[in-house]
Amino acid sequence: MAISVKLSDAIERGEPIVVLAGAGMSAESGVPTFRGDDGLWKNYRPEELATYSAFVRDPKLVWEWYNWRRSKIKGCSPNPAHNAVTLLEGKLGDKLTLVTQNVDGLHRDAGTRNYLEVHGCIWEVRCLKCGLSGELRDIPDESLPPKCTCGGLVRPGVVWFGESLPEHILSAAFRASAECAVMVVIGTSGVVYPVAHLPQVARENGAHVIDVNLERTPISDIADEVFLSPAGDVVPKLFGMMG
Ligand code: OAD
Repeated sequence: MAISVKLSDAIERGEPIVVLAGAGMSAESGVPTFRGDDGLWKNYRPEELATYSAFVRDPKLVWEWYNWRRSKIKGCSPNPAHNAVTLLEGKLGDKLTLVTQNVDGLHRDAGTRNYLEVHGCIWEVRCLKCGLSGELRDIPDESLPPKCTCGGLVRPGVVWFGESLPEHILSAAFRASAECAVMVVIGTSGVVYPVAHLPQVARENGAHVIDVNLERTPISDIADEVFLSPAGDVVPKLFGMMG
């Protein structure tokens, strides 16, 4: 039975809690992870598709890959773990901070409001020329690569290899990690920095760290509690919500 007394007490007292999510959070929704047997990086070479230089070399190819990923994600819905985060936010308000590495937007779809998307969001786009940005869900294949009204090339609103993470989002994530009473890490391999450093920051500042994953990761080694089960099963129980 997935119960953490430290977490239940923190929820009861309305203490600040950070949920740090990785691809495992969305696995039960049908979104592929990055490093598993069927992971995205097993079948594609990131440097050929998820870099700025790949984009300027062949924007149409990169956009076709993103449109393929978008079409996969479009058919996916939030799972009980996403919904449990939203319910917890309903209880804790802005004491709950969700830091997600996922670009699938499923936390948005689940209704979570206080989210920090450190790697961006696949539904966001940004003009390389005028900087205009926003959510754009439908981009027909025939119109790839999309162009802005200013004539500039439009790129996906995600962070690519070799790019810096958005500074204001990253600093908010570090601040929340340093100030939380409990950090719940869900479905990340814990190998991509700087995000993989956040559980350490939480720990060093006195937080109780919980790791939820199918297998042990470097984060399990520094966690106070480890639950080796699917997120969709464990997270609702941990948060005291069965939905
Ligand atoms: P990974 O694919 O590296 O790791 C996914 C983790 O989720 C693994 O540790 C799995 O064991 C675990 N997992 C899988 N299914 C699960 C389930 N149902 N319940 C719980 N855990 C499960 O994904 P991330 O750690 O998120 O970056 O990868 C981090 C970053 O690497 C991504 O954001 C992406 C990638 O390069 C960018 O695109 C910038």
